[in-house]
Formats: sequence, structure tokens, C-alpha cells
Amino acid sequence: MAPDHVKMKSVIRVLQKPFDPAQIEFLGNVRVGEGGVPLDVVRQHYHAVVHATGSSVDRALGIPGEELAGSLGSGAFVSWYCGHPDHTKLQPLLDHPGVAVVGAGNVALDVARVLAKTADEMAATDIPDPVLDVLRSSAVRDIHVLIRRGPQHIRFTPAELRQIGELAGADVLVHDDGLLAAGVEAPEDRRHRQMLDMLAEWSATEPAGKPRRIHLRFLRSPVRIIGTGGRVGGLVVERNTIRDGRVVGTGEQETIDVGLVVRAIGYDAEPIPGLPFDPATGTVPNEGGRVLRDGRPVPGAYVTGWIKRGPTGVIGTNKADAVETVAALLEDLPGLPEPAHPDPAEFRAALAAHGVRPVDWTAWLRVDAEEVRRGGLRGAERVKVAELAEMLDAAHGATTG
Ligand SMILES: NC(=O)c1ccc[n+]([C@@H]2O[C@H](COP(=O)([O-])OP(=O)(O)OC[C@H]3O[C@@H](n4cnc5c(N)ncnc54)[C@H](OP(=O)(O)O)[C@@H]3O)[C@@H](O)[C@H]2O)c1
Repeated sequence: MAPDHVKMKSVIRVLQKPFDPAQIEFLGNVRVGEGGVPLDVVRQHYHAVVHATGSSVDRALGIPGEELAGSLGSGAFVSWYCGHPDHTKLQPLLDHPGVAVVGAGNVALDVARVLAKTADEMAATDIPDPVLDVLRSSAVRDIHVLIRRGPQHIRFTPAELRQIGELAGADVLVHDDGLLAAGVEAPEDRRHRQMLDMLAEWSATEPAGKPRRIHLRFLRSPVRIIGTGGRVGGLVVERNTIRDGRVVGTGEQETIDVGLVVRAIGYDAEPIPGLPFDPATGTVPNEGGRVLRDGRPVPGAYVTGWIKRGPTGVIGTNKADAVETVAALLEDLPGLPEPAHPDPAEFRAALAAHGVRPVDWTAWLRVDAEEVRRGGLRGAERVKVAELAEMLDAAHGATTG
């Protein structure tokens, strides 16, 4: 969840509830698979395993220059500002006034908004202190959101689009090659109509002269990232046009002056060792959450979330999706084979044998308290502990600075 969606993030209190009366045992810091505890071992201790590992791999554009420093996937960039421990060393290059964000989904909007917000606005969120320091010294002024199709094809949602129009420090500029003025056929979907109205209003409004600008550039496809001194120095895009309702390239190219390119074009998933995987959809084959191998359910194996459906859908979609999986599990439960070692103490012993020291619920609450303490120092509700070592220090009772 985007760090500046502070109100929505209070869902953390709701999600804590089932753990408090100890109905559910929480075991954090447990890697399943290589470098942790093998899935086979987990299966010996539980009737069922629900995999909710998501889609954590950034899709590539497949264009020259993508490997340059300053060319990032949104997964890495978002994980960095959200304080994911695997991405604390990212050091994105925010030393150039121009940034390109590729894509017309809500992730592209999240990235554009975080780059456009003032440091004071971001200080009130839970982003880690080192991230705030980088954003404070950001030289970014122009954020170019590159959308390959037209205003009628965006995949944003209205609430998210509206937010970029309400930023204290950034104007929104719509570049649509006159499509909106010429009249776009009103889509049937009410939310799409709302968004078209918003875009039309912005395109007819003079910018207020705020220090930063978000440019919504329609009908532009990235073609090549230009390297300067081993890092991103610009982005070549091709202009597209809409012919017979289809988007086609015109062959006409232009270069956008940027030092960072963030592609927010969707995600792929990593296969789960020991489970079937469909690389075409980035999902584990399943029926209503029951994992299928060669078309038949694998007893005790379930999936939920993006690893089940692919990388689309908002939090509400995932809630309904989880309900479906859990219903399937409960229906199957009476017929599932008894695990060889059902005693939770035996699982703890197995973890120890694999060198895994879990973070239990009491330890998680210590991390939570540390985040709230750090928040107090910055006038925020909480501030993320991002470094794994600091997280474990907080969890296991050592004091951190
Ligand atoms: N606040 C929120 O509610 C929130 C926040 C973040 C994410 N989400 C949800 O999470 C899901 C994933 O979001 P997402 O933004 O990653 O995915 P998304 O909604 O699927 O959007 C991906 C975008 O990338 C574009 N794209 C794909 N390949 C491209 C290419 N080669 N060149 C240029 N553009 C390309 C797509 O364009 P086309 O449309 O032309 O295919 C599409 O606009 C969505 O359901 C989203 O709503 C919700």
C-alpha cells in the first residue's frame, strides 16, 4: 500500500486482531525454500499450506538501454520507498530534473505522486528516514507518465487519478495530441467517464506554476533508453495514433530529457519450488484456490492473491479472493491427510534445525512499537524499520537507535 495512503494503512490494526487472542500463530522471518526451510518440511507439520507470495518480479520493456543505471522496475522502486528490507540499497538517481514513469496503471500513479510530493508531505508518512533524506534532496521537477494508448484506455482508478490533481507542489499537464478536445467517445463505464472529465478539465486549465509538474503523455511508447556515462540520459519514445479504434505507431520519434526511467508495466511471479507454475500467466494453476497438477488438485496446497489470479486487482479484490480460497480449504479439511508432525513445538524444532529463528507475535509487537516510537520522533504515526538487522534487533529485544 502506498506510504502516503496513511488513513488506509490503519488497516494494520484490523489485521492485528486475529493474532492477539493467539488463535493464529505468527511466525515471521521464515523463508520457505532455498536458504530457509524446505516446503516439504512445512508440509509435514500442517494439514494445508496457503501460498500468498504475490508477483514480485518486474516485467521488462525489452528495449535497448534497459540495463543502464537509473532504469528501474516499479517493484524495486516502490519496495525501496516502502521500506522493504531487500531494497534498502537501491539508491535511485533523483539528481536530474526529468523522470519517466512508463504505464497507465495505479502503480504508475503511486510512483509519480511520491516523486511529486514535497518532503514535508512525505515526512508525515511511514517511509524510512533514509528514503526521506533522498526525497528531500531530490532534483526532480518534471515527471513524465508515458501512456501508450489514449485517455479512454487508462487503467487508473478515479480516486487515485484525482489525488495527483490535489498535490500541493505539483501541477498536472495533459498531453493528448488534441484527442480530448476532438471528443473521445464516452465509455460505458461510469468510472472511466469520471476520469475523462477530470482529464478534460486539467487539459483546459492553465498550470498554477507549482515547483513540480506531472505530465500525462498519451500515445507514447518507449523505444530506447539513451545512456550517458553509463547511466540513463534520455528516453526515446515513438508517437502512436489511433486508427480504426486501434493504437498504431507512427514511426515518428521524440526524445524526453530524463535521468531516471521507472517502468510500471506490471509484474511477473517467481515459481514456487515444488508447485506447478504457468509462466504465461505468472500464476500457479488452480481452481478457486486449489492448486492443480495435471488438472487434478494437489491435496493440502492452496493459493491466494496475485500468485492465484495474476497481478491485477485492488485490496478488496484480494479479500474476496482469499475468502474463496479459505472456503475451499475448509470444505476439503475433513478429507485432508493428517500431517506427520502436528504439534507446533515440533515445527519450531524443525525451524531451529534449519537455522531459522522465527519472529513470533510478541516479537512482531516489539517491531511495531519501535516503528511507532520512530514515528513519534518525526511527527508521523509510524516510521518503517527497513534494515533487516534493525528489525531483528527490535524484534528480539535489543535497543536500536
Ligand atoms: N491505490 C490502489 O488502489 C492501487 C495502487 C497500486 C496498484 N493497484 C492495483 O494493482 C494492480 C497492478 O497495477 P499496475 O499499475 O502494476 O498494473 P496495470 O493496472 O495492469 O497497468 C499496467 C500498465 O502498463 C502498461 N504497459 C504494459 N506493457 C507496456 C509496454 N510494453 N509499454 C508501455 N506500457 C505498457 C499497460 O498499458 P495498456 O493498458 O496499454 O496495456 C497498463 O497501462 C492493478 O489492478 C491496480 O489497480 C491499486
